[in-house]
Amino acid sequence: MRERCVETDNIVIRHARIIDPSRRMDQVGDVLLSNGEIVVAGTLGVESIPDVCRVIDGTGLVASPGFIDLHCHLREPGFEYKETIAAGSKAGAKGGFTTLCAMPNTDPPIDNAAVVEFIHQKVRQDSLVRILPIGCVTKERKGHELAEMEELASAGVVAFSDDGDPVYDANLMRLALVYSLDLGLPISNHCQDKSLSCNGVMAEGPVATHLGLDGIPAAAEEAMIARDIALAEATGGRLHVAHLSTAGSVPLVREAKERGLSVTAEVCPHHLTTTDQWVLGRKGESVGAAGGLAYDTSTKVYPPLRSQRDVEALVSALVEGVIDCIATDHAPHDLTSKQVTYQDAAFGISVLETALGSLLQLVHTKKLSMEAMVERLTTGPARVLGESYSNLASLEPGTPADIVLFDPEQEWTVDTSEFESKGRNTPLEGTNLKGRVVATFASGRMAYQAPGLKIKESRDKV
Ligand code: DOR
Repeated sequence: MRERCVETDNIVIRHARIIDPSRRMDQVGDVLLSNGEIVVAGTLGVESIPDVCRVIDGTGLVASPGFIDLHCHLREPGFEYKETIAAGSKAGAKGGFTTLCAMPNTDPPIDNAAVVEFIHQKVRQDSLVRILPIGCVTKERKGHELAEMEELASAGVVAFSDDGDPVYDANLMRLALVYSLDLGLPISNHCQDKSLSCNGVMAEGPVATHLGLDGIPAAAEEAMIARDIALAEATGGRLHVAHLSTAGSVPLVREAKERGLSVTAEVCPHHLTTTDQWVLGRKGESVGAAGGLAYDTSTKVYPPLRSQRDVEALVSALVEGVIDCIATDHAPHDLTSKQVTYQDAAFGISVLETALGSLLQLVHTKKLSMEAMVERLTTGPARVLGESYSNLASLEPGTPADIVLFDPEQEWTVDTSEFESKGRNTPLEGTNLKGRVVATFASGRMAYQAPGLKIKESRDKV
C-alpha cells in the first residue's frame, strides 16, 4: 500500500456506534488507533487519549472493521482503460472497503507467479487499501488444464477462480477442489452452465420476453452449483459459490452446509436490491410497455438481475447466514463497451462506491439488521478466506487499523461523474441513497476522507 495524504499515527474517533462482529460488540464508544494498529475500540477514558492526536467526532456515525470484498475486477494488467489498481483502490476506500480480492480475468490472466508479483508491486506503489490477488483455476482461464495452483499459492493468491467463466470441465473442477484441500484456499466458481445460458443476456422471464431478449434460465446457475456441491462432497474440497443469484440456489447451499460440506457462498448488492424490471430503464418502476429508456445496458450483468421472488429469497438467505457474505463483483467497463445494443454490451456493474448505500436500503426497511450487514461485509468474507485473515475483520487491540466510519442517515444522489472508479456503468446513476462513508482507514492511514469531515488536532478540542 502506498503512503497517503494524512498522517494518522494517533487518531481518536469519539462517541461512534462501534459494531465489531468479531467481538459481538455493538455499543457507543471510542476507537483509538496508533501506529497502524487498533489500541482501543470500546470505552476510552479521556486520560488515555494521547496528547498529540487527531480527533473525529463520531456522534451519529457507525465505526466498524473495514469491509472485505471477496470479488472485484481491478482490470490490471491489460484493461487499464476500464480500471486500474490505483483507481479501483480509491473507489474501494470511498466505499468503505479496506481489503479487495482481485479477480484474475486480466490480460495476461493471473495464472502464474510473475503476474502475481506484478500485482503485488503495483499494489505497493499505487494502492490505498490491501489488495489480495485471486489466481486462475485453469491456465489462461481457458478451461483446458489446471494452472500451477501450488506456484500461485506460494506467490500469495488467496483463492482460485476463472470468474467471468465457470470451470466447465467437471474433472478439472474436481482436481482443483482436491488441490484446494492441500493448499487451504477456496475455489470460487462462477456457476453458470453456458450450454444452458446460451446467448442469454438477461434473466429468463416475462421482462425478457417482452423485450425480445434471450433469457438466462435459473437452471444455468443451479445445475452448476449442484455439480460443484457433488464434487465438493466427493473430494472434501473448499467450494465458494460466487455471486449466487437465484432462489433455487439457496436450498442447494443450505443442504450442503447441513451435510457438513465445506461450501460457502456470496451475494452481490445488486442481486439484493434490483430486479430484471430495471432493464426497462425506469429504475425498477413497473411499466406496462417498454419505453424509450428500455434496454438499459448498465443493468446487464452476470449473473443477471432476476425477479422480486429471487431477491427476497436471497435477502432471507443472507439474514439466515446460508449466504456467508456480500461481495461486490465490481466490474467496471469503459463507455464504449456499454454504449451499444443490449445484446452487444459487456456484462458488469461498477459497484464499490454504491454498495453501502444500496445495502443500507435493506437496513432502513428492516429486512436486514445493521449488525448482520456489517458481519456479512467483514467477518463473513474473512471466514471464507480462512483463519489467518480474521485480524482484517476485527477491532481487537493489536489488529491492523482497517476501519470504516459511515453515516447511515446521510442522503445523497449517485452521480457517476464523481466516481473514483473509471467504470461509470451503474443503473443507480441519479438514484437517491441513504448512507455514506465518511472516512476509511487502511492500516491506520486515512485512505478516504469525505469532504466536510472535521478532524480536530488535539485532545483539548475533544
Ligand atoms: O457481469 C460480470 N462481469 N460478471 C462476471 O462474472 C464478470 C464480470 C467482468 O469481468 O466484467
